[in-house]
Amino acid sequence: MPSGMLAQMLRCVNEKYFQPESRDFEAAKGAFSAIFAAAAAESSCRNAETIIPRMAGIRLRHAATPVAASLNRGLARAVWPAMLRQVARRGKAMDQAGGGLAGLEVGFDIPALPGMAEAEVQTPCLVLDLDALERNLRRMGDYARAHGMRLRVHGKMHRSVDVARLQMQIGGATGVCCQKVSEAEVFARGGIGDILITNQVRDPAKIDRLARLPRHGAQVAVCVDDIANIADLSAAASRHGTELGVLVEMDCGAGRCGVTDPEAAVAIARAAQAAPGLRFDGLQAYQGAVQHLERYADRQAKLDLAIAAARGAVAALATSGIACPLVTGGGTGSYPFESASGVYNELQCGSYAFMDADYGRILDRDGRRLDRGEWENALFVLTAVMSHVKPGRAVCDAGLKAHAVDSGLPTVFGRDDLRYVNASDEHGVIEETGTPLKVGDRLRLIPGHCDPTCNLHDWYVGLRGGRVEVLWPVSARGKGY
Ligand SMILES: Cc1ncc(COP(=O)(O)O)c(C=O)c1O
Repeated sequence: MPSGMLAQMLRCVNEKYFQPESRDFEAAKGAFSAIFAAAAAESSCRNAETIIPRMAGIRLRHAATPVAASLNRGLARAVWPAMLRQVARRGKAMDQAGGGLAGLEVGFDIPALPGMAEAEVQTPCLVLDLDALERNLRRMGDYARAHGMRLRVHGKMHRSVDVARLQMQIGGATGVCCQKVSEAEVFARGGIGDILITNQVRDPAKIDRLARLPRHGAQVAVCVDDIANIADLSAAASRHGTELGVLVEMDCGAGRCGVTDPEAAVAIARAAQAAPGLRFDGLQAYQGAVQHLERYADRQAKLDLAIAAARGAVAALATSGIACPLVTGGGTGSYPFESASGVYNELQCGSYAFMDADYGRILDRDGRRLDRGEWENALFVLTAVMSHVKPGRAVCDAGLKAHAVDSGLPTVFGRDDLRYVNASDEHGVIEETGTPLKVGDRLRLIPGHCDPTCNLHDWYVGLRGGRVEVLWPVSARGKGY
């Protein structure tokens, strides 16, 4: 069987059984099982033989079929990565339906199972305090509602279909933002119905994938800062018979993508309005450079410039007779300013849901740390002490592979007497000033930066009352295309 055909079979199963409107896991299981049974007879792929059935939650029959026998080693090696991806997607889809953990081994495939005590969870891993998470989500939803703002939460932070769903169910979110086409694909396949890529998409292959996305039933929009992009987006949307929303991206002072001139915004908007397959949705005016400034007044001063830029572009559009339905932007460090601006009508906050150590230290209007006032820490890296042979120093099992340190080292939740002082690949050094830790002690670390930390893990372990309630895959982990 040629490798292309095998990959195609897997794709067909996926497409047939894993559409939001037509899920049939039992039938899919049977189909996958037959394909894997055939392919698993390839003896050079022992590792994959172990991994695939576990991920798929199936038992392989190792009967060598004529089909399997014809798979040569080279072909099989080329095909396994594609198969693994297909199975991972299937596993996640099944997990979303509540039945996907069967056959997975704690400590090998997953860090815990629902019902376990926190003390039994394998470390290091990501844990979510579900009560704190839900309070954060509700608070932001209430805030947006009270201020007449739409809330399109930033899914690049958590990369999780489950968290996005919860944000829509209880947190007032109308949709999600993300940064990459492949992330958007994960959300669309997961049933999220309104997706904005808050970024530029210029590569022809990615534009093509983007234009296919609305077929999953989602309304999809993308940012544009160059009029030359319009023709490519339009051609792709026309080719696939879909419609893409276009938001003109303004550079409001962060110095990355975006136009600075209102006239350029008008020209792009006009081109989008005229282009087949495109819809002009409005402006994106996100100021990323202010979000983490410590003082509220400093953030406000810089954000005022962004608001002025957005207001200027809206006025220029109005003068040209172009309606601007949406002005979107705002993050966890700035959302009060966009909400009070009278210009913006949509927020894109992400980190509020989980909080992290870097955001936690910035100050709100009343001079309180953000993590002591508006938002609670809901995300932690659970770690265990694995060595304590030097006075005043413990070594835990969470290092650089468990959390990102680009925005600073993690802090230890609820323990002012402990300081995480050094991270190497698999080790974290913790200085003690109070009661010494013991080997096996568990700590909750607050990561310095939530977004890249989440991208290091496969699973969220959701805890409530000291017990594991849910296991959610980091659905778009590694989706950087
Ligand atoms: C375009 C855009 N919007 C919104 C956000 C969300 O910001 P935060 O996580 O700070 O709330 C980000 C984060 O980097 C972003 O890049």
